[in-house]
Amino acid sequence: MKGSLLYEGKAKKVYSLIGEEYELILEYKDEATAFNGKKHQTFRGKGRLNNLISAHVFSYLKLAGIPTHFIQTLSDTEQLVKQSQIIPLEVVVRNVAAGSMTRRLGLEEGTELPEPIVEFYYKSDDLDDPFINDEHARMLMKVDQSDLDHIKAAAHKINNHLQVMFSEIELRLIDFKLEFGRLHDGSIVLSDEISPDTCRLWDQDTNRKMDKDVFRNDIEDLVEIYEIILKRLEAIVHV
Ligand code: C5P
Repeated sequence: MKGSLLYEGKAKKVYSLIGEEYELILEYKDEATAFNGKKHQTFRGKGRLNNLISAHVFSYLKLAGIPTHFIQTLSDTEQLVKQSQIIPLEVVVRNVAAGSMTRRLGLEEGTELPEPIVEFYYKSDDLDDPFINDEHARMLMKVDQSDLDHIKAAAHKINNHLQVMFSEIELRLIDFKLEFGRLHDGSIVLSDEISPDTCRLWDQDTNRKMDKDVFRNDIEDLVEIYEIILKRLEAIVHV
């Protein structure tokens, strides 16, 4: 049974679960935000789409042997997860230059990177999620170098699996953001969500943008695009 509201973020609410100390309920909201909340809009049905898309992606990764917080979906907009202490690190993996990388390094959007790049950002709305290195992460959060090495290795592994999964549904995985959390036994698992809100996905043939950039840059209807992704995932992943 759903307990009290523990936390409300931009895209999700987190509830406790009565009688289950180490489990939580995530409820996905219909809101879309961009540019650290400066742009926001409600899209009816978005919460359902991200809940179900993320559930498919996490199920795929679980099957591939990646430890995650995901247990099961509970409804169209809710999922049951293991309780984890989120490490305030946004782990971005890039295969192709886009977004902030093009601006920071002067690269043209769409430039293939010679090898995938893992970047760390400090998860802080007040500071606009600044780019940080390992030393900053060790200073700012409860992690040591072996935790960071573990997170980087997991991020590369997840990237390999997701590239295969998205290519099966004719999408190129340009970049994406991961979050990790610590379970009560101290182990680190993949947490949060993986959805078109947290990934850049381009159509394999046409490079059509199939992710939150359609909202960020007013390109196409977000719900129509996310529906296409869910339909394609449903054809290849069983939840
Ligand atoms: O903005 P930037 O190019 O650094 O984003 C890289 C990737 O990380 C994109 O797929 C973006 O959707 C994701 N991201 C995110 N949440 C953030 C920042 C970036 O999901 N706070």
